[in-house]
Amino acid sequence: MTDNASDTPKAGKGQGQAMWGGRFSAKPAELMQAINVSIGFDKRLWAQDLAGSRAHARMLISQGVIASSDGEEILEGLAKIEDEIATGTFPFRDEYEDIHMNIEARLRELIGPTAGRLHTARSRNDQVAVDFRLWVRDAADRTVGQLEALQKALLAQAEAHADALMPGFTHLQPAQPVTFGHHLMAYVEMFGRDASRFRDARARMNECPLGAAALAGSPFPIDRHATAAALGFDRPTANSLDSVSARDFALEALSAASITATHLSRLAEEIVLWTTPMFGFIKLTDAFTTGSSIMPQKKNPDAAELIRAKVGRILGSLTTLTVVMKGLPLAYSKDMQEDKVPTFEAFDALELSLLAMAGMVADLTPNTENMAKAAGAGFSTATDLADWLVRTLNMPFRDAHHVTGSAVKTAEGLGVDLADLTLEQFQAIEPRITQDVYAVLTPAASAASRMSYGGTAPAQVRAQIARWKELLA
Ligand code: ARG
Repeated sequence: MTDNASDTPKAGKGQGQAMWGGRFSAKPAELMQAINVSIGFDKRLWAQDLAGSRAHARMLISQGVIASSDGEEILEGLAKIEDEIATGTFPFRDEYEDIHMNIEARLRELIGPTAGRLHTARSRNDQVAVDFRLWVRDAADRTVGQLEALQKALLAQAEAHADALMPGFTHLQPAQPVTFGHHLMAYVEMFGRDASRFRDARARMNECPLGAAALAGSPFPIDRHATAAALGFDRPTANSLDSVSARDFALEALSAASITATHLSRLAEEIVLWTTPMFGFIKLTDAFTTGSSIMPQKKNPDAAELIRAKVGRILGSLTTLTVVMKGLPLAYSKDMQEDKVPTFEAFDALELSLLAMAGMVADLTPNTENMAKAAGAGFSTATDLADWLVRTLNMPFRDAHHVTGSAVKTAEGLGVDLADLTLEQFQAIEPRITQDVYAVLTPAASAASRMSYGGTAPAQVRAQIARWKELLA
């Protein structure tokens, strides 16, 4: 026990030994600081905080709320602070609680009492609201860029393998042959929708809460349109209470992040499956695999597994912030300080996942021979046989399905593929079947025949690749 603690009343114990000991001297004030302090994480908002302060200071000058000379001093002080933070000499201090008060306290040390004029017509409530909105907006923009980089990596592989056959699955059972390019392009579509979700969220969040002050607005002749424009917002928010209370912009961004993470986890899972010797569809280089400390033969797709797992953290962040916001009365409550850690954590995880996935996609090499072989397994052209019966013999599809089922049963009984059945064997099931049927029973013919818009025919796949290349150019 420290001297300091021994001559201070103990919190709630009265037995001379604080139960939490050591770390705390048990003064309520210290515990208050421990639960209250946020500088450890909200220092990440420093650039946004400086941008907001600059816009606010310039507006105060041009509106005549503060003298130009004072405003200039403030702006010079802020420039100095930016320099200190960039060079790592800025003193971040717990005693000043958060990033807003740390910067203001430092400004006072640098320029004296004039620093106090910066907070005219402003509260930490609208200050943190604008800082956090700017941060989430930046994160959304960054994510769109990372999604597009991943799409480009997928496009390059899809283009190189637009007609490489592989099995298409439903229920993870061989269904119909597709091409590797087509399969990868499915993810290009998903990540394209993810990017558009972030763009939509950005458009909705792009209103500036600065100037709402504590909650009710300001009696000073401020120009909220000017600060909104200076910070790249489309307009100021229209209700001061909502301005300082709203965190749905972060919830929306975290929702978009969670959906993106589920898409990443699906591709990650496929990479995990495809790299197993049982599938043997793709190979990753040493750059994206790890070895085992005991089993010398192993090459594990750890990056894919970790990406598959990150959705837990990211969706967890959405849950965290949703529960923090639920039931909060208007306007600002300190609960909302808990918005930052989950949001930072989610976007850190998402960024790493997107970058690693793009790297892994560029790194992978498909084993086209294995994939093509697998594409023909499991009677994957059975639907093509049924379609042939419909087209050539004008059979109702349900009957064709039944005939094909009998053919599959016969082939299965003989331990051969459909294409290995003799014409006599086919005709024993349906006498009108002719030699022509064999043309539709290869996986290549099956894939090439699916020329419907968005289908797996290499020509269709190439058309979609061309469309996306243009969209991403
Ligand atoms: N650090 C606080 C937060 O993150 C800043 C706003 C504090 N406002 C207040 N009235 N105590 O929310």
